[in-house]
Amino acid sequence: MKRIAFCALVFVALLTGFPFASGFIERPALAADNIKILSPADGTFVEEAQSLAVVCRVPKGAFDAVQISINGKVAKTITPLGDKVVVCDRDAVQPGMNRIAVSALKGGGAVAAAEVSVFVRTALSVQYNVEPDGYKQYLFHDSRSDCFLCHKMEPAKSDDYPAKPSDSSCYVCHKGITAHKYVHGPAATWGCLTCHNKNAKPMYAVASPVSQTCAMCHQDTIDAWKKMKYMHGPTAMGMCTACHDPHGSDWQYWLRKFPTDLCQSCHVGMTGDHIITFFNGQPHPIRGRPDPRHPGQELSCASCHSPHASNFHYMLFADYNDYRSFCTGCHRF
Ligand code: HEC
Ligand code: HEC
Ligand code: HEC
Ligand code: HEC
Ligand code: HEC
Ligand code: HEC
Ligand code: HEC
Ligand code: HEC
Repeated sequence: MKRIAFCALVFVALLTGFPFASGFIERPALAADNIKILSPADGTFVEEAQSLAVVCRVPKGAFDAVQISINGKVAKTITPLGDKVVVCDRDAVQPGMNRIAVSALKGGGAVAAAEVSVFVRTALSVQYNVEPDGYKQYLFHDSRSDCFLCHKMEPAKSDDYPAKPSDSSCYVCHKGITAHKYVHGPAATWGCLTCHNKNAKPMYAVASPVSQTCAMCHQDTIDAWKKMKYMHGPTAMGMCTACHDPHGSDWQYWLRKFPTDLCQSCHVGMTGDHIITFFNGQPHPIRGRPDPRHPGQELSCASCHSPHASNFHYMLFADYNDYRSFCTGCHRF
């Protein structure tokens, strides 16, 4: 009981005093129009993120609400805030450039505003797989220090095997990462530190190439692929996370997209006409039909090609020159 009261007191002190908790650091006057985005940093890029934390300091008491916009569209209006001076939120971002704007509103108008640009880089886009000139990678855990005033920033002993997700110190800030239809075993248990090394530089970095991380548990599968005659470029390069989100997604096998869309992100413009064009000019279907070889799944590029490796040309499931084993793998003509 005593402890709870004490925590609440400290918390209130932090809320009103952040980031210069009076008493130990001199507190500069905060201009009424002073709004600052603490995270993410302007002119940086991140890798493949679905959402970013938008954390800002707003002028104390001088507003009715705070509005967060992404690429000109209002993402969220947060109200009321009382005398809280730090606003933390998480919002969806898109591959490519994202302009994140935050404004403090008073009487319907903005009394203060700030904006940052963050580029989301992805291997799944010919357009957005390279960051713009001058953009540095945003590595949050190597650069921030003022969040600890309210958040636990150091990994705890219990983070190795948390009994439930909310026991993980990562949960408060990253809870959305497993909010998906399909979640990968080790992420579902919030064993984040199985793959993210807390002693790595930069902090929480994973092994490179990423396949080394996957090999900790999927060594046999990867070894079997390596023995095959043909291996797919990105798989051979160890870029497993180009296609798989290591945490989870709304597609089976935690894919970043439906397989056909995944393939077409890199093989741009490729349709079913490389297989056969019918007399009516229509190409062979590549989606929207049941996959005869994988009951319960939808036909996709991966129905014929392995995304990883095979002993047949073009990573097909059978020899294409042998009509009977290839086309009749699905058809009876
Ligand atoms: C003044 C105290 C305070 C400071 C300083 C602070 N936060 Fe927060 N933050 C909070 C509170 C309170 C919550 C809500 C916690 C909850 O929902 O359980 C929160 C929630 C969050 C969330 C979760 C948001 C969501 O909706 O999923 C993230 C991410 C976050 N903070 C990141 C940060 C980062 C990064 C910093 C440093 C730049 C920071 N915070 C500094 C008080 C603070
Ligand atoms: C105070 C909130 C907070 C806590 C606690 C936190 N993170 Fe983060 N983390 C962030 C923010 C903010 C980013 C920047 C990207 C974003 O907005 O999602 C980030 C980014 C990352 C990244 C990408 C690399 C980087 O440094 O930008 C990894 C990996 C990561 N966090 C892992 C973890 C793990 C593992 C834990 C728990 C041991 C953890 N985080 C705890 C807020 C937090
Ligand atoms: C199976 C291994 C594995 C586990 C378990 C795992 N991660 Fe990751 N995580 C990765 C890899 C690999 C990357 C880098 C992906 C890349 O570079 O494309 C990554 C990237 C990230 C990023 C930055 C990109 C993004 O998606 O926003 C964050 C944040 C992150 N992890 C947080 C977490 C948290 C929190 C947990 C615990 C719930 C966790 N991870 C568990 C392998 C893992
Ligand atoms: C700590 C061990 C561990 C690591 C590291 C790990 N995985 Fe897994 N993975 C599992 C377990 C356990 C399962 C089976 C349970 C499940 O479905 O989540 C699994 C299942 C999978 C599946 C689905 C397999 C199927 O047949 O349904 C895929 C895809 C996958 N992992 C990809 C990856 C990728 C990509 C990486 C590297 C970024 C990786 N895994 C790293 C433990 C791990
Ligand atoms: C080009 C995209 C792509 C890349 C790169 C990729 N995968 Fe996959 N992966 C898929 C697709 C699509 C499926 C589901 C269809 C299938 O099983 O063929 C899948 C299925 C899987 C499965 C479950 C089924 C099986 O074959 O065992 C595992 C495990 C897996 N991938 C692990 C990995 C690992 C580990 C890597 C990196 C060495 C990797 N993947 C690289 C697209 C990819
Ligand atoms: C991250 C980008 C990327 C994704 C996603 C991707 N590929 Fe590829 N693919 C490549 C690269 C790079 C090559 C090697 C190019 C070359 O050697 O001509 C390649 C080669 C191939 C080849 C062999 C081409 C040849 O001429 O030998 C086939 C077949 C193929 N991919 C099919 C697929 C299928 C099916 C998918 C979806 C499951 C897919 N790819 C997803 C990048 C990608
Ligand atoms: C019904 C089976 C089937 C489906 C579905 C399929 N392919 Fe193919 N693919 C083939 C066959 C057969 C070949 C060999 C064609 C040849 O030798 O001309 C091939 C060849 C390829 C090649 C190498 C030759 C070239 O034309 O560049 C690539 C790359 C490729 N496919 C990508 C894809 C992608 C991407 C998709 C999905 C959009 C897809 N395939 C869907 C059967 C299929
Ligand atoms: C992975 C399975 C698969 C393979 C392999 C495959 N197809 Fe198909 N094909 C389909 C599916 C599914 C349809 C759509 C059937 C439907 O709508 O009921 C289709 C449709 C067709 C049709 C239109 C007539 C029909 O049955 O509806 C023709 C013609 C065709 N395929 C020819 C071929 C030829 C030639 C090959 C070998 C080069 C081939 N297919 C390989 C799955 C496959």
